[in-house]
Amino acid sequence: MLKTSMRTHTCNELTKKEAKKRVMLCGFCHTIRNHGGVVFIDLRDRYGLTQIVFDPGYSKETHKESDKLRREFVIQIGGLVKLRKKGMENSNLSTGEIEVFVDKLGIISEAQTPPIEIDDRIVANDEIRLKYRYLDLRRPIMQNHLLLRHKTAQAVREYLNSQEFLEIETPMLIRSTPEGARDYVVPSRVNQGKFYALPQSPQLYKQILMIAGLDRYYQLARCLRDEDLRTDRQPEFTQIDIEMSFVEQKDVLEVVESTVKYAFEKVLGLKFKEGFKVMTYDESMDKYGIDKPDLRFGLELIDVTDIVRNSDFAVFKEVVKNKGIVKALYAEKDFSRTELEQFTESCIANGAKGLAYMKSDGKKLESNIVKYFPEKIQKEIIEGTKAKKGYIFFIADKPKIVNSALSKLRLELGEKLCLINKKEFSFVWIVDFPLFEWNEDEEKWDPAHHMFTMPKKEHIKFLETEPGKVYADLYDLVLNGVEIGSGSIRINNPELQERVMNVVGFDKERARKRFGFLIDAYRFGGPSHGGFAVGFDRLVALMGGSNDIREFLAFPKNKNAENPMDGCPSEVTNEQLKELGIKLDFVKK
Ligand code: AMO
Ligand code: AMP
Repeated sequence: MLKTSMRTHTCNELTKKEAKKRVMLCGFCHTIRNHGGVVFIDLRDRYGLTQIVFDPGYSKETHKESDKLRREFVIQIGGLVKLRKKGMENSNLSTGEIEVFVDKLGIISEAQTPPIEIDDRIVANDEIRLKYRYLDLRRPIMQNHLLLRHKTAQAVREYLNSQEFLEIETPMLIRSTPEGARDYVVPSRVNQGKFYALPQSPQLYKQILMIAGLDRYYQLARCLRDEDLRTDRQPEFTQIDIEMSFVEQKDVLEVVESTVKYAFEKVLGLKFKEGFKVMTYDESMDKYGIDKPDLRFGLELIDVTDIVRNSDFAVFKEVVKNKGIVKALYAEKDFSRTELEQFTESCIANGAKGLAYMKSDGKKLESNIVKYFPEKIQKEIIEGTKAKKGYIFFIADKPKIVNSALSKLRLELGEKLCLINKKEFSFVWIVDFPLFEWNEDEEKWDPAHHMFTMPKKEHIKFLETEPGKVYADLYDLVLNGVEIGSGSIRINNPELQERVMNVVGFDKERARKRFGFLIDAYRFGGPSHGGFAVGFDRLVALMGGSNDIREFLAFPKNKNAENPMDGCPSEVTNEQLKELGIKLDFVKK
């Protein structure tokens, strides 16, 4: 099938069935070995390796020509397939039974010595890999990552197509969408002084497609967000973006879950017998201190505020008096002094003021602070944490700090105690998020997700009076402690939309200016609808056993949001700026 006028087979095809046949192959010279005058080359293409042989006894002329060949030269050869000598077969290669004796050689392209090895076992530093991405992508492991990505995308499309979803493209030059990050902006030449935003997601467009009656939409959508980068965050990324009409939360969850399961089965051959777990946001925060719990292991946080409030330990008493909380984490292991110090340091780095700990033998506690805890309280701590032989760790502070630091300590302990099965895929739906989040810096309410999310009916009455009490039909999908997607049921009532916008600081006039088109659109009839977006890069990376989405993108940016290969972002010419009506007065030199 992959036969072209230049090759009869790929480098992964030939077996003993083709012995004695004449073939033509094309590829890169992977390794070159000279054994007693006979030259052996592993010829590589995307599909695999084939050993080709330049033997003076077979073709004197081509053997002589092979002198010129160096690693990564691109060549075309013609020759005869022969069975390898007994004992020389390579069972690791699908072409390991044969070799091709070459009698025709064409050099398609010479190659300089590559600055990085085309070898999965030898990984160059990140910057060099990105600069020479075309060489890095020649490594089989990288090609496999892109293959996995491709297969997953096709599986997702296949499933959604089968459910009557339409793939519809939405524009890249838009009015800014509030997803909570900064926009990338694009100046307009035709409308000087005006700017487009690149979409942080197709959120508003997919809502409008529902108003337009398209009923079921999806898109493998490119999203752009100007945020600080991490291993699981890129300025450009892809979502499996979904929106559906006449649905409730459970309908959306079902479609997303089925899509993900279909892809896992189709691509990895993995079947999930049971449904994904479901947990409320409150339960997740309580037990794991975070809204994306890694459920591959236990180690739950235990709230001991009520137990320790009567102790004599000043640190805890003070915190409890100021409406703080104390949570504990029990780990069944004996830790060294150095380890305990390390834990303390990382908790402090994560915002805690300290880390208190006690050693337990199941009956008694030992620590420099146990003297502040009467025997009765010690007993309650042991019972409350179900401690046997091990350590109990405590952090006292505001809930946000306690949860944040202890959830990270939990992960550290999970690794340390080898509790995490790296082969497992543990999905959980986190549902019933609060609609708003208190922004301490600006002393205002922010949307927890975005402001188009439907509040729970029974909470609408608290919108203006107690926004913190309003929960929403808002849900995340979490895989192995990573948020791989997020969605909600949307507000389809213009008045309610204006009320919610008002809570997050968009008074009527500002809301009109920015989102008037959306609010107006709903006045022409908007079906009840909801949707979801799976972070496609994250999903694929996790399927491939990694957290680093850059390994699963052909051309990612580095941590300064640059591409070292083409050198973007870069300056533009004065003529370009002039045409756009832009003067660079504030650029820091
Ligand atoms: P949200 O902003 O939560 O929701 O994004 C959905 C998912 O996209 C992934 N993601 C990212 N992946 C890589 N790099 C990034 N910078 C990045 N940012 C987000 C995450 C996240 O869970 N419009 C809503 C969806 C909806 O309500 O339907 C949205 O974009 O895995
Ligand atoms: P201190 O009284 O500050 O010397 O602290 C006594 C012990 O309590 C030390 O081990 C501290 O690390 C720990 N500690 C201090 N503040 C907190 C806190 N907010 N939560 C938990 N432990 C703390």
